Amino acid sequence: MLELQNISFQVDDEGQDKEIIRDISLTIPDNKLVVITGPNGGGKSTLAKIIAGIEKPTGGKILFNGEDITDLSITDRAKKGIGFAFQQPVRFKGIQVFDLIKLATGKNISIANACNYLAEVGLCARDYINREVNSSLSGGELKRIEIATVLAKASKLSVFDEPEAGIDLWSFQNLIEVFQRMRKDIGDSSILIISHQERILNIADEIIVLKNGQLVKRGTKDEVLPELMGTTSAMPECRKIEQVREANQNA
Ligand SMILES: Nc1ncnc2c1ncn2[C@@H]1O[C@H](COP(=O)(O)OP(=O)(O)OP(=O)(O)O)[C@@H](O)[C@H]1O
Ligand SMILES: [Mg+2]
Repeated sequence: MLELQNISFQVDDEGQDKEIIRDISLTIPDNKLVVITGPNGGGKSTLAKIIAGIEKPTGGKILFNGEDITDLSITDRAKKGIGFAFQQPVRFKGIQVFDLIKLATGKNISIANACNYLAEVGLCARDYINREVNSSLSGGELKRIEIATVLAKASKLSVFDEPEAGIDLWSFQNLIEVFQRMRKDIGDSSILIISHQERILNIADEIIVLKNGQLVKRGTKDEVLPELMGTTSAMPECRKIEQVREANQNA
């Protein structure tokens, strides 16, 4: 179980303090698939980076299975069982897809075994297994390879930041099935997905809504989805867009 206790994150923005995460406390229980959603710029990726250890919170504590991991590095958190797929995947020049998957499993697996993970994310393994993880891969291919490495890691907590980004419609269907299979075999581990997609929200055990760096709602999909999809919450955003358009026209 992951516990965030009063997590805050401030950055220096041209000499002024900017609060990106404001006093967030939440738990990601074992045996649950939790989805975080909310408007662009709400702080979701920042929170994911704080969980992975890429950013250090300016306030609060992070506990993983009761142990304080706030000061642990990314590598040490990975060793404790936190796996992470970035919104913008990282490229590894000089490393082949096979090496990356083998590294993720931490075992000396065969090529055939590694290919199974690529097949899971809908990639024809033979075309990719010996490719270098560099800029010759398309955005969607890279994203799927990264998801395959998270599957290979089989972490206690797997975090996916907008796994749907850059994925075509056919592969998106495949991706939902990947998450459904992960959910079925979840055991005592947990899955955290950051997403804007209704179909991913639909497979969540719990949904958390982040807005302006704050947790504004948490509940089951029946409790959260209707309001999220309803006109009441969309209206203020629409008005904002109108105001931006007007301001741009007057500029
Ligand atoms: N180092 C930084 N310095 C200044 N502002 C930052 C920094 N990191 C993040 N921000 C700002 O914090 C806010 C939250 O960013 P974040 O990437 O967490 O949003 P998000 O909820 O993931 O959005 P999206 O849905 O677009 O992916 C944004 O306004 C972003 O510009
Ligand atoms: Mg983001």
